[in-house]
Amino acid sequence: MHSTEFQSIIEFRRSNRKFDPEVPVPKEVIQRSLERSILSPNSSNMQLWEFYWIHSEEMKKAFVPLCLDQSAAKTAQEMVVFVTRQDLWSKRAKWNLDRIKETIKGEPNKLEQKGLSYYGKLMPLLYKNDPFGLFTFVRRTICFFGGLTKPFMRFGGKADQRIMVHKSCALAAQTFMLSIAAEGFHSCPMEGFDKKRVKKALGLPRGAEINMIISVGKGTEPGIWGPRFRVPYEEVVFVK
Ligand SMILES: Cc1cc2nc3c(=O)[nH]c(=O)nc-3n(C[C@H](O)[C@H](O)[C@H](O)COP(=O)(O)O)c2cc1C
Repeated sequence: MHSTEFQSIIEFRRSNRKFDPEVPVPKEVIQRSLERSILSPNSSNMQLWEFYWIHSEEMKKAFVPLCLDQSAAKTAQEMVVFVTRQDLWSKRAKWNLDRIKETIKGEPNKLEQKGLSYYGKLMPLLYKNDPFGLFTFVRRTICFFGGLTKPFMRFGGKADQRIMVHKSCALAAQTFMLSIAAEGFHSCPMEGFDKKRVKKALGLPRGAEINMIISVGKGTEPGIWGPRFRVPYEEVVFVK
């Protein structure tokens, strides 16, 4: 299938930093886009993400300085904060476990047994931490010996866990931006913000992290800062 429509959405999406103050974004556009974000692929379906829709005038105003007074924040009609929730791993593993258990009738079959072990045993092994780094040590040791003679998923400590949750969250953010473009509106992803203050403003616990903030509105021409430069295909794509 060759979709010209998808191509046009990709081309339409640009980071726009100046939104038209006269054009509000219908609430349904944001809601539909968030519903699509939730359908994004994510590591082990653990869904360690949350989306904070900054909608009230009061919150939008509060977020302008938190986004370092960027024009994309100043002129945003709506904003969504994409948040990783690594700290919710146990709750989400149980949630997945419960979904599998719901489908089991009688004795679990091989696939169901695999699912139960995946969320009941493997997820705790990947996500569990302790103050002394014992779990990281155990993971590294398993990977070292497991990988001596055959390919093995290399997974160690906190850095790997953070990469895992941020990857999935960024995919949700991308789905959101493409959806906003498909709805005929514009967006700007931002990493220029004060993560500590943003967490405080949202009342988030220590284990949560801000992945990115996306502002949305009807873009204007001055909001596009220049042509879309990209390093040539040949320089970044390697066919092996
Ligand atoms: C994770 C991420 C963070 C970004 N942070 C900012 C930002 O803080 N401010 C901004 O104006 N643009 C930001 N951008 C937008 C990029 O500058 C932009 O995507 C890039 O220049 C390519 O342009 P395009 O999006 O129009 O294709 C960010 C983009 C990404 C993916």
